[in-house]
Amino acid sequence: MKTPKFDVIGHRGAMGLAPENTLLSFKKALEIGVDGVEFDVQNIDDELLVFHDDTLDRTTNGCGRLLDYSLNDLRQLDAGQGEKIPLLAEVIELIGDKAFINIELKGINTASLVMKLVKLLDKRRFKKEQFIISSYHFSELYLIYEFDPEIRIGVIADDQPIIAFDFADEINAYSFHPSYSMLNQALIEQAHSTGMKVYVHTVNELDKIQNSRELGADGIFTDYPDRVRDFLANERA
Ligand code: G3P
Ligand code: MG
Repeated sequence: MKTPKFDVIGHRGAMGLAPENTLLSFKKALEIGVDGVEFDVQNIDDELLVFHDDTLDRTTNGCGRLLDYSLNDLRQLDAGQGEKIPLLAEVIELIGDKAFINIELKGINTASLVMKLVKLLDKRRFKKEQFIISSYHFSELYLIYEFDPEIRIGVIADDQPIIAFDFADEINAYSFHPSYSMLNQALIEQAHSTGMKVYVHTVNELDKIQNSRELGADGIFTDYPDRVRDFLANERA
């Protein structure tokens, strides 16, 4: 029997191996050979930046709230190993068609962010099968759905699976992104019965990689795409 496809999605690039959400991290993920790359997008000074937190302290040499700085100031910071906080345009230029991209919206300045994002992807001639837009925030995803129901939407959930799943079903989401702790076979079967893929976050340990695979998930977000690549290679051997 043919083994089902299992997508390896590099979380914030390959954040276990390089500073998260930097060009270095995305290059690392591509070098390992991922199917998809996940990153987080925020709207600052009318520009789309790839950054996870709402404060600078954890991942850069700056401090305080991201929104309190100009784009120019933010671009001077060190985001790890001398890397800058990248613009979305730089990231999608780097990734191109080497992997699909999962753009996670972080829930600020939503309406203008959504419009800018969709225009940028269109200008760069990204085809709809090359990207997923995901969020924990239903309101953002609803805007995308209203703008263009053909865009692939991923609904992220850390709790309340029924509410998140019903919403995903309502907007014909492409994929459901439960946390590993929420994962069970019934959830996967329910998603598959409505045509949704299940991408689990964030899975780094071998036993969890294996369990996600055995339960029938379609892929995982991982900080260590090298481990998943090796696991899949062993499976084939
Ligand atoms: O998209 C899966 C995962 O990235 C969601 O959580 O906090 O890592 O952006 P977070
Ligand atoms: Mg994310």
